[in-house]
Parts: sequence; structure tokens; C-alpha cells
Amino acid sequence: MSEPTVYDAAAIDAYNLISSMLSPGAGLAAWVSSHRPLAGRTVLDLGAGTGVSSFAIADAGAQVVAVDASRPSLDLLESRRGERKVDTVEADFRDLQLDSAFDVVTMSKNTFFLAQSHDEKIELLRAIGRHLKPGGAAFLDCTDPVEYLRADGTAHTVTYPLGRDRMVTITQNADRATQAIMSIFMVQGASTLTSFHEMATWASLPEIRLLARIAGLEVTAVDGSYAGDPYTARSREMLVVLEAK
Ligand SMILES: C[S@@+](CC[C@H](N)C(=O)[O-])C[C@H]1O[C@@H](n2cnc3c(N)ncnc32)[C@H](O)[C@@H]1O
Repeated sequence: MSEPTVYDAAAIDAYNLISSMLSPGAGLAAWVSSHRPLAGRTVLDLGAGTGVSSFAIADAGAQVVAVDASRPSLDLLESRRGERKVDTVEADFRDLQLDSAFDVVTMSKNTFFLAQSHDEKIELLRAIGRHLKPGGAAFLDCTDPVEYLRADGTAHTVTYPLGRDRMVTITQNADRATQAIMSIFMVQGASTLTSFHEMATWASLPEIRLLARIAGLEVTAVDGSYAGDPYTARSREMLVVLEAK
């Protein structure tokens, strides 16, 4: 297995800032709730990072176990969770072995694509299946791969101003042949620069259906937005619901 894609301690504040901007948070919780009401449920949030997704799910009334391979991310999550019912586990989600099973498993904003190869995605889907209670469901929150191809192989850069003296720049390049996405994230101040990068590998919906079947799961719904719009050729999101076969 490849090394997990995690960010070192020096990048965590920048990562947390960018995660707060990009993670769907409440949108994710609303989408999951439209399929499985979250109040009183147990949820396994894989790739929880600094907690943006886990906190939104806990705020919807669930009891969350947040898994991440990055200790610095979990330290920040733990320092910010307050009274929320969010426990943490430092582990690699691709071969996770917990003693408990959950009503819901979530992977927010393209975390599924951080399992790089088909084999790693199958291992991850098996790990998801192992941790689902009978009747439970898993939720993969993915960008629709068509979004990566719009720039047609050239790097695409977006800059967000943050107040008077900081800006965030995200540069992304996707390779159609290998389905690899390279992202470089930068937080710039007047005299500071923090940057980190991330490699991911997208999967199309037919691939996810096939990999899920190999892992003993089935795609039971696909939505095109957190509000539950149907998934079409114009959707920006590809929101996949999985259940045990
Ligand atoms: C896109 S971030 C999502 C963060 C969070 N869920 C949110 O919504 O803000 C992906 C997270 O997955 C974690 N990660 C990547 N590979 C991992 C692995 N193999 N096992 C566990 N965590 C992993 C990273 O450390 C990072 O925190």
C-alpha cells in the first residue's frame, strides 16, 4: 500500500483553514440526513481531518468516531470538539479494524479518492463494509470527475482573498490517462507562505459500482448535489450511497 496522504504538523493550520473553506460540513450532514436521519445514530467518519465533517454530523445529533492517519489533525480536532460526541481513532482507513459497527459511514469531499489504486479502493470499501451494521449505509462525497477534465490537462488555479492580508491559492492539475489529480494548496500572508500538496486518483461512477461489488457492497443511490438534486451530466458533485449486498 502507498503511504497515506497526510499533512505534517507545519501545514496543519493551513490545511484546517482550507478545509473550513472547502469541506461541505453542514451540506454533507444535510445530504446524509436525507437518506438516514442522523439524530441518535452512530457514524464512522473516515478521513476526519481537523473535524469539519465530524462536527457537522455530531451537530445533527449523531455520535461520531472520527478516523484519521494524521496525529496533528486529530490533535486539532480534539482541542476544538467541545461537548460534541466525537471520539477519535488514529489509523489508516484502508485497513481499519475496529471492534464496533456503525449505522452510517461517511467520507467527505473526495477523501475516497485518496485511496490511490483500484486495489486500495477495494480494500477501503471492504473496510467500510466491515464497519456497517446490518441495514447501515455509507456515503462517499465526491466531486464529479467531469469537473477535473474541464481544464483539459492544463493546471487550473483559483485564488481566494482572506481579509486584508492573506490569500489562499489552489492549483489543480488532472491527468485524463491516469485519473491522477495533483493539488497544491498555498496560504500566503504579507511575509509568510505555507504550502502542501495532495495526490488523489478519481474513480468514475461505473468504476465505483464495480469496485463496490467486488468489495461486497452495492451503490443504492447517487445524488448530484447535497440538496438531493438528481445526478446528471451537468452535476458538479457525485454523491454515492452504498449498502451491503
Ligand atoms: C480531504 S481531507 C477531509 C477532511 C475532513 N473530512 C473535512 O471534511 O474537512 C482527507 C483526510 O484524510 C486523511 N487521510 C488520507 N489518507 C488517509 C488514510 N489512508 N487513512 C486515514 N486517513 C487518511 C488526511 O489526513 C485528511 O485529514
